Amino acid sequence: MNKPLTIAMPKGRIYKEAAALLKQAGYHLTLDDEDTRKLILEFPEQNIQIMMAKPMDVVTYVEYGAADIGIAGKDVLLEQDRDVYEVLDLKISPCYVAVAGLPDQPLSKIAPKIATKYPKIASDYFREQGEQIEIIPLNGSIELAPIIGLTDRIVDIVSTGRTLKENGLVEYEKIADITSRLIVNPVSYRLKSREIDEMVQKLSEVVEVEMS
Ligand code: PRP
Repeated sequence: MNKPLTIAMPKGRIYKEAAALLKQAGYHLTLDDEDTRKLILEFPEQNIQIMMAKPMDVVTYVEYGAADIGIAGKDVLLEQDRDVYEVLDLKISPCYVAVAGLPDQPLSKIAPKIATKYPKIASDYFREQGEQIEIIPLNGSIELAPIIGLTDRIVDIVSTGRTLKENGLVEYEKIADITSRLIVNPVSYRLKSREIDEMVQKLSEVVEVEMS
């Protein structure tokens, strides 16, 4: 039998949505309860291996060929600009990247500070606006930064809007709509084109039906 097709999947909420989509496409990759701490899951009957990774790391595994395929948020792809093929918009986990802050707070005139875990997206956006900003990189709970007066604004993901609301913040501008994408390692695409094309085709049919 050929080497298994390796898929890097983000842990957490996206996993469930992606696994559901794959199941509809004929790939049964459901996690059993006792498997939730395992990092590599084998599905020999389908010749598939799943690697459970942090969402920000999925693209790294795919770029280096450790995984043939990955499921990654468009936010991560915009931020990292890696050498992978983005082959399909899976249209799951929709959210967007936005600029937010305390209400009625104009941006400081001199080098406003922006807290974010997306320094590239934030820098690109404010450069296009002609604003010279200072990025304060943070890894999570970004909303804290303007509340405690560390920064003027944040650039972060908004999904339901609940985190902003419950912390008294408002949205100023939307930067980009985000969904999860299927990405492929360029060499794998050449060497395993049959299996990969088949998966892309099946998934695109499911996505189309889901959206109609
Ligand atoms: C993300 C994001 C926001 C929140 C938005 O954080 O950074 O904080 O979700 O979701 P909402 O609009 O539905 O409230 P995540 O849960 O990934 O944790 P983090 O703060 O550690 O990044």
